[in-house]
Amino acid sequence: MKEDPDLPIGLFDSGIGGLTVLREIVQLLPGESTLYLGDTARVPYGGRSKETVRRFSCQAGDYLARQGIKLLIVACNTATAMAIGPLRERFTIPVIGVVEPGARAAVSRTRSGTVGVIGTRATIQSGAYENAIQAIEPGLRVVGQACPLFVPLVEEGWLQHQVTEEIARIYLAPFRAMGVDTVVLGCTHYPLLRTLLQRVLGPEVTLVDSAREVARAVKEILDRGPRRSRSRDPVQRILVTDSAENFRRVARNFMGQLPEEIRQVRLI
Ligand code: DGL
Repeated sequence: MKEDPDLPIGLFDSGIGGLTVLREIVQLLPGESTLYLGDTARVPYGGRSKETVRRFSCQAGDYLARQGIKLLIVACNTATAMAIGPLRERFTIPVIGVVEPGARAAVSRTRSGTVGVIGTRATIQSGAYENAIQAIEPGLRVVGQACPLFVPLVEEGWLQHQVTEEIARIYLAPFRAMGVDTVVLGCTHYPLLRTLLQRVLGPEVTLVDSAREVARAVKEILDRGPRRSRSRDPVQRILVTDSAENFRRVARNFMGQLPEEIRQVRLI
């Protein structure tokens, strides 16, 4: 990597959910500065068309690139599923999405050969996880299930609520019948439902957290490049496209310790 190692790692998401990725990055790479952009004025992306998600994603990527970043993480499954190709063509810095690391982890963990993927409608309809998994291991069976009600339930903080559990049972019933032994949490919000999902699926099912896997992939890239100088403390900054106050309120579920600086910006 030839970029200035002291520049921050850039991440963007449709809104707040990408904080699950930021949390993993800060934990695994505590010496790095980060610049997170949440497009909270236009969230959710999960029910939108490919053309719209691509346009929004390119605007978010452009904004971060103008601020100066050494690497771009597409910390949103929907944006990765629909826009990773155009984003990679657009920038010269490394562009890492959440789908490939999650797919790699699922391939290495399944024993039954049947992998379940849960995500937004857009992510599941795109077939991005299925394609990524079968590109690595063509013989695997991939079963996708859109879980559109999970995002609002998580943002409401209903992480252990009986309503959420009942909905999860309905969404995940086909996985039990099909012999799925590994499930990819293919949406930024789902790691917060991990305990509930494990209970519903049973202890024998392995859950793959794409947020954690992407942090590992980023660490591998940075370990190969020049080190960040230790002369200045790392800085974590958050930019949002809607009110910073609203973001702060919901963000507490996602990240215990929020960065001091949360600033509202306009992308266009
Ligand atoms: N960040 C999105 C994802 O990971 C979930 C929220 C949305 O639909 O925008 O797919």
